[in-house]
Amino acid sequence: MRTQNLIEQAAVALKAGHLVAFPTETVYGLGADATNEKAVGRIYSVKSRPKDLPLIVHISSVNQINKWAKEIPDYALNLAKEFWPGPLTLILKRTQLAKDFITGGQAYIGIRVPNHYLAQKLLIEFEKLGGQGIAAPSANKFQQVSPTRAQHVMEDLGSVLSDQDLVLDGGISEIGIESTIIKCTDSEPEILRPGFITESHLNKMFDIFSNKNNKLNRSIKHSGMHNKHYSPKAQIFVNALPEESQGLIALSNVPTPQGVIRLSKPKDNTEFAQDLYNSLRLADKLNLKFISVFLPTLDGIGESIRDRVMKAANLD
Ligand code: TXA
Ligand code: MG
Repeated sequence: MRTQNLIEQAAVALKAGHLVAFPTETVYGLGADATNEKAVGRIYSVKSRPKDLPLIVHISSVNQINKWAKEIPDYALNLAKEFWPGPLTLILKRTQLAKDFITGGQAYIGIRVPNHYLAQKLLIEFEKLGGQGIAAPSANKFQQVSPTRAQHVMEDLGSVLSDQDLVLDGGISEIGIESTIIKCTDSEPEILRPGFITESHLNKMFDIFSNKNNKLNRSIKHSGMHNKHYSPKAQIFVNALPEESQGLIALSNVPTPQGVIRLSKPKDNTEFAQDLYNSLRLADKLNLKFISVFLPTLDGIGESIRDRVMKAANLD
């Protein structure tokens, strides 16, 4: 089927209350009409996700932001203008449209404009049908590894999706780890989850970040609250020398010891992030019990790779 027809079909499916998994530049999302309580309820049941964990609403552009958020601080609008479409989620005060079933009962809403041509087309088609936004968590089972390919979504959720749900294939997610989440509900921003956009990146660009000590917030509900996250079945060791028959994920300049199964050898941090979840999934396919991950340097996205690996290893 032509891409345009497929997207139109997907938008119709969303409007009818079905689920559509779609690619974004970070990871694949499991989408539902963000105003349809029943459809959103299915996201939670399909993922086996606790109901109080809020969902990100995806919109096609910053122009749609006032539907979902109000009293938006100037610094938040500046962030949106700088990074959208892109790997940034803003947490803002919600409007009436953002019901408890999206926000987990909190007074705040998470919003993002994804930067992937299929996601963009889907959002635009959905809006043409009167849609207001697409609620979408990562399209994996709760606490497990996020999907960076359509095939990952099928492996995780294929058996629990209905015949009318759809999975759109948009290739490999370019970034490979989830969006940076910034809480923008007070006079100063707070980074809740690092991503492609890192704290040092923000410090350099915005005075409002460099003026304060940005400790990751743990007082409101977000990924960081659950220690176990992004986890494969295999146990992860960080920076430990792997033994025979164990897996290894490390930059390509790290040699593979004899008998060790090399899961990934990215040439730099960008490739490391892009391949991380795929290589954790590969370890499970190979039934490995142990994986060693050598953390890359902490520059650029390295900070966020560290965050995900420590959580996957249940160490953070
Ligand atoms: O890159 C991404 O952000 C992907 C793609 C699909 O957009 N989505 C994603 O969603 O990673 P999810 O649900 O797997 O992780 C989003 C995190 C959750 O931990 C959730 O608790 C937090 O964002 N979050 C969402 N809305 C929130 C809110 N209103 N307040 C605080 N945290 C929120
Ligand atoms: Mg997730």
